[in-house]
Amino acid sequence: MSIQERFVLFREDGVLKLKDLERPKYKPIYIDFGEYLSHWDHQKSSLKNALLAKAIGFKGEPLTVWDSTLGLAKDAFFFCLLGCKVTGTERSETIFSLLKDALERAKSDKKVYSIVENLEIYNCDALEIDKDNFDVIYIDPMYPDTKSSAAPQASMQILRDLLVTENNIHNLIDFAQKKANLRVVIKRPPKARPVDRPLIHSYSGKSVRYDAYRPSNRTW
Ligand SMILES: C[S@@+](CC[C@H](N)C(=O)[O-])C[C@H]1O[C@@H](n2cnc3c(N)ncnc32)[C@H](O)[C@@H]1O
Repeated sequence: MSIQERFVLFREDGVLKLKDLERPKYKPIYIDFGEYLSHWDHQKSSLKNALLAKAIGFKGEPLTVWDSTLGLAKDAFFFCLLGCKVTGTERSETIFSLLKDALERAKSDKKVYSIVENLEIYNCDALEIDKDNFDVIYIDPMYPDTKSSAAPQASMQILRDLLVTENNIHNLIDFAQKKANLRVVIKRPPKARPVDRPLIHSYSGKSVRYDAYRPSNRTW
């Protein structure tokens, strides 16, 4: 089956969804910002103490963030929740159509929309962005599957098969380090080797690690 035949976009109850016909038992993928909000509403600790907030250097004041690899925008939504102004780029047309649909549907929920109206999305490769002046640039590429990593969740398995995985993210990191005002943050599997450049700090959790790097024009 070709990729076009295998991955099908369809609408169900007004929601655009993506189905992998080779995995008929898996639930279709869709984006619902209302669900993302309930997830965070149920967290016991404050948003400010979340590992990702620490990794981007959030201290209570809103930052301008470029999420260069939007995907399903879970992380971008979190940045919006912190009150940050977020620009996002996603190169896959299929994923971008899910994002656009979710943003459109969010307009019917005042509370949710008041959060995601701070998210501006572009369907392009990150290296093609022509905007500047970001405090923080965030990179969460699709890494090739490694046999040693734990089984990814169903939606991630589908995304891995649909999307091009990244063997070399160095171009994007270089580009981001030139553009960022404060830091570049890269999401990595916990045991992955850091990329070869000076770190500000590594923020490690059980299932994820965020490595923060300096912009290339900073020596501090
Ligand atoms: C692992 S997912 C990101 C998940 C995301 N952080 C979230 O919270 O849902 C990686 C996404 O980045 C996109 N991507 C990878 N490299 C990219 C690039 N150079 N420019 C734009 N998008 C890219 C992929 O198409 C994929 O949708």
